[in-house]
Amino acid sequence: MLFSQDIGIDLGTANTLVFVKGKGIIIREPSVVAVDQRYNPVRVVAVGSQAKEMIGRTPGSIGAVRPLRNGVIADFDATAEMLRKFIRKAVTASPFSKTRVMICVPSGVTEVERRAVNDAAKSAGARYVSLIEQPMAAALGAGLPVDAPRGSMIVDIGGGTAEVAVVALGDIVTSRSVKVAGDSYDEAIINYIRKKHSLLIGERTAEDIKIQIGSAFPYEGEGAMSVKGRNLVDGLPKDVEVSAEEIRNALKGSLSHLLDAIRTTLENTPPELSADIIDGGITLTGGGAMLRGLDKLIEKEMKIPVTISDNPLDCVVEGTGICLEKHH
Ligand SMILES: Nc1ncnc2c1ncn2[C@@H]1O[C@H](COP(=O)(O)OP(=O)(O)OP(=O)(O)O)[C@@H](O)[C@H]1O
Ligand SMILES: [Mg+2]
Repeated sequence: MLFSQDIGIDLGTANTLVFVKGKGIIIREPSVVAVDQRYNPVRVVAVGSQAKEMIGRTPGSIGAVRPLRNGVIADFDATAEMLRKFIRKAVTASPFSKTRVMICVPSGVTEVERRAVNDAAKSAGARYVSLIEQPMAAALGAGLPVDAPRGSMIVDIGGGTAEVAVVALGDIVTSRSVKVAGDSYDEAIINYIRKKHSLLIGERTAEDIKIQIGSAFPYEGEGAMSVKGRNLVDGLPKDVEVSAEEIRNALKGSLSHLLDAIRTTLENTPPELSADIIDGGITLTGGGAMLRGLDKLIEKEMKIPVTISDNPLDCVVEGTGICLEKHH
């Protein structure tokens, strides 16, 4: 029996999700690839959460890489290999040759970057590849009335990019993409703790701090946590107490890029659509939407109501799914 299978992929800097038409989301994995460097070219030994778990627990020859950085492909071979593994997992039941893949790209990508994503999906075994702009997919997945003759504002904050867009009549009216998102928030925490406490911490610790006590706006019951790392002064392990307020201050600079992007997008929005946005508010998606108090900060700065979508991590891939159901 010959039948095609349609799949939607959110190829994210932090997480890759795969939607199979008729089945829903079947893969949610970190965008991580573990490679054995003893081979040339390097051999991929694991992808996704399996690869993430290997970080720091493997023999010296195995290294874990994140093939996407700042929302674009940084390591083409590793990205293609990761996609190949995920697509294989998704299309077990049908002939590989008929696989149609819809994959999201940030709104600001260049032609070269689009081609890289397209080629990676093709070399991973997809027969047909179509690209969808990430903010459009996010808006669809968040259930916004994207096809209506009214404006909706979507803000998707991922690991590598934050995308701000106004959509109406099935199209992006105006948008802005900044390469300051979740990963940069982690970096800001690393830099702050190095400068203020002379303590060196890694990316995963920084992300833990962000998720446990990080915030964009003061919140009730905020406290502190103990952070372990390497003392920059004597090289020995040490732990320090870090407060929620300190972390909030450390994140301020990065968050100002997001606020600027929202402000500029609002300024570039035709007045009739601006009126719609005042009524409909701003919708947040992506993992960064879960940063405590981010909705409150945006609401205070823009004076427009802000809603965090349900399942913010799933919206983009859900959007590709909705698009696939619509078009085929
Ligand atoms: N509770 C939380 N609070 C703050 N940040 C969070 C939380 N949970 C996840 N994140 C952050 O969300 C980001 C990942 O979000 P998401 O999966 O939407 O990104 P992505 O789609 O892979 O990236 P991009 O769209 O930029 O390519 C990470 O930076 C992660 O640290
Ligand atoms: Mg994303």
